[in-house]
Formats: sequence, C-alpha cells, structure tokens
Amino acid sequence: MEPFVYRNGEMVAEDMPLARIAREVGTPVYVYSLAALRANHQAFVAAMRGLKAELHYAVKANSNVAVIRAFAALGAGADIVSVGEMRRAMAAGVAPSDIVFSGVGKKEAELREALAAGLRQINVESRAELDTLDAVARSLNRTVDIAIRVNPDVDAKTHAKITTGRKENKFGIDIDLAREAYAHAASKPNLRPVGVAMHIGSQILSLEPYRDAIRKLRGLVGDLRADGHAIDRLDLGGGYGIVYRHQSNERPFAVGDYMQMVRQETEGLGCALSFEPGRSLVGNAGVLLGEVILVKPGAARTFVVVDAAMNDLIRPTLYDAWHDIVPLRQPAAGAPAAVTDIVGPICESGDYLAQERPMPPLAAGDVLVVKSAGAYGAVMASTYNTRPLVPEVLVDGDRYTVIRPRQSLDELIAADRVPDWL
Ligand code: LLP
Repeated sequence: MEPFVYRNGEMVAEDMPLARIAREVGTPVYVYSLAALRANHQAFVAAMRGLKAELHYAVKANSNVAVIRAFAALGAGADIVSVGEMRRAMAAGVAPSDIVFSGVGKKEAELREALAAGLRQINVESRAELDTLDAVARSLNRTVDIAIRVNPDVDAKTHAKITTGRKENKFGIDIDLAREAYAHAASKPNLRPVGVAMHIGSQILSLEPYRDAIRKLRGLVGDLRADGHAIDRLDLGGGYGIVYRHQSNERPFAVGDYMQMVRQETEGLGCALSFEPGRSLVGNAGVLLGEVILVKPGAARTFVVVDAAMNDLIRPTLYDAWHDIVPLRQPAAGAPAAVTDIVGPICESGDYLAQERPMPPLAAGDVLVVKSAGAYGAVMASTYNTRPLVPEVLVDGDRYTVIRPRQSLDELIAADRVPDWL
C-alpha cells in the first residue's frame, strides 16, 4: 500500500495534505501512515497463516509508543534489545508474555528488570550471559525460558554495517559451539533452553541466505534433541528488505514466498516459529519532510540545503543508503532536471540526504519528501549541532496527531548541568 501520493498536484499521506503538516508542525518532521502500518502488518500475518507462528515487532526500527501500540492492537508482540524498549513496549500495551529480549550485551540490571516483568523469552548470545542470567534468575527464584542465538555463518549480502550472521560479526554463539552452550545452559537449574534463535542481518533482498541459515538451524535442532534438550521454538529473526529505490530493479522477495520457503524448510520439525520484522512493517509507512533553506549553485553541482540533516536521518551517511526524494508539490511534467546534492546545514561533508541526484528546479521554501523513512529514521536521530530531536506525526485518514512533539531548545539545553566549581 502506498499512502504517499500526489493528489491535485500536492502529496498527501492518506487523505491528509503533507503541506498542512509541514505548515502546522514545522519541518523537519517525520510523518507515518497508520493505514500503511496496518497493511504491512496484515500482509505479514496473512503470509504466516497455516504456520504455528508469532510476530514480534522489532521495536528498534521505530519505537514511538503510538507505532508500537498500532501493532499491539493488532495482536503483535515485541522484540526488544534494552529495558528502555521493554518499557516502551509495555507502555504501548504489549503483554510481557509477548516480549522477547534479544541483544549482545544485556546488563545484569536489565536482565533483572526483564525477569521481574515476566518476559516470554530471553535470547542469549554468549556463555557469559548464560551465567549472569542464571544468577539473576536464581536470586529472583525464577526459571526462565531461553533461546540461544546462534551465528550460522551465512552471508546475507547486505551492507557490511547491518550484516550480523557471519563468523566475523559479534552476534550470537558460533553454530559449531552451540551444542556445548546448550549443555552449559541445561546444567543451570534456573534456565530452560526451549528454543534456537537467529538473525542474520537487515535489508536482505534474497531468500537464499535465510534458507541456508534455516537448514543449519534445523540440523542443530536435531542434534540438540539427540542431546536431550526439549527444543520446540525457532526464532528466525527479521531482516526482510524493502524497496528504497523505486526506479531501479531493486526488488526484495515477497513475504509470501519467504513463508513458503520457511514452511518447506521447517516441515515436520514441530517447532513454534517466531518472526521479528522491523523495517518491513514501518519503513515504507513513513516519510521525512524537510524545507529548502537555500539553493547554492556550485561549479560541480547544485547544492540544495534543507532543514533536515544527518542528525535527523543518518542512513545515507552511515550506510550509503538511497532514499527516494521528491518535492511535496508535484513538478510539471518534463521539468528540467539538475544534478543536485541534497544536504543539511550540519558542519560535515557527510551531512547529505542524497548525492548527485537529478532533481526538478527547487527554490527556498519548497518542501521535500524523503521517502521510506519510517524505519531507523527518528529512532536514530540525535541532537548534533544542538538541533532539537525531530518530531513525529501519525496520520489516520484525514486526521493527524503529533506523536512526539518537537523538542524545544530550552529543554535540550536545560538537560546540561554546569558544576558549581566552574
Ligand atoms: N531482530 C534482531 C535481533 C535484530 O537485531 C534486528 C535488527 C531485527 C530483528 C529487525 O530487523 P529488520 O526486520 O528491521 O531488518 N539501522 C540499520 C538497521 C539495523 C538493524 C538492526 N537489527 C538501518 O538503518 O538499515
């Protein structure tokens, strides 16, 4: 579903003109479409049909409580990587028994809070974590369901900074060492190893790495059962790629094809499945609006300086990510294109949203729409250059609500403390 379309020459989100949001809330601002969030969730759940499976939304992709609530209301659980995310998920109405805690470095206090809350499962990523978790569980007089996240050593063929399932990556326990880790877990009276987990990367566009990894996990489940462990859960992680560049041949697999593959590869295994999609539920349901501050023709190219910057959306800088960018006001057909760098006001050459991008003529005051910004956008924002945290808006039909107001400069600066000895 594409909620961001031109209508009468201006882009809308569902039935809400983006120009009105830009005017009333100001720019930069993130805008999400509730209908698109719901449609993405629905498509995933429909594809899961017939499988014994659950969806745990990877909250890190977009952790606004309103967004989590939208999914929770449809029955989604949550995949979290910090107690901060746990509190957000619970604030959004996700039951602790529907929350899975992943992450490579959970602190003891976090594990304690998670166990006290009664989370469904902890995905353990190291032997050291098994020991800490067991000690915490014992002190609380609890027994905790765990899965061990294994590193299956497959190449997800995605950007190096978001690939996680290779031997060189910090994540999970090497699959060759997994049996020994399960034996260690089983020796701990307060840990109940019930599952195997994986997550091999993000923005994955082909099924093959998943298939390879699931086959390896299937082999491992057989070995673990032979070793006497009652393994009946398989957490297959997330990572499903979306289209960022619509005028290209970048085409991720369809979720239906993925589920079909999962069905084949897990047939007869008797495991309940869990999926942790993040990006594929929120990515294309959000845009970032930025207003052109000025246009600066240069010798090599034209610079369009906008009020949205790398602190608001770091993906182009950090991952060389492509986001489609279009003017809010529909350009005239056949408008001449100029090769343009769309940059922010931050004092770094890495501060750009797009480079060498053909754009129609732009002028100060025009608003640009940065597409596919619903995932890993607002959550990765910072206040670098003392720029307030960017606000977020949720649209439902012809109404909108600010689901995170723009931070004021006063709030931002008042957070600092000057010692009385200075
Ligand atoms: N499960 C685990 C254990 C994860 O680490 C992640 C993402 C997910 C699920 C959800 O993956 P998704 O379905 O969203 O691909 N900031 C980067 C992406 C980092 C992904 C981190 N882990 C970006 O902007 O591309």
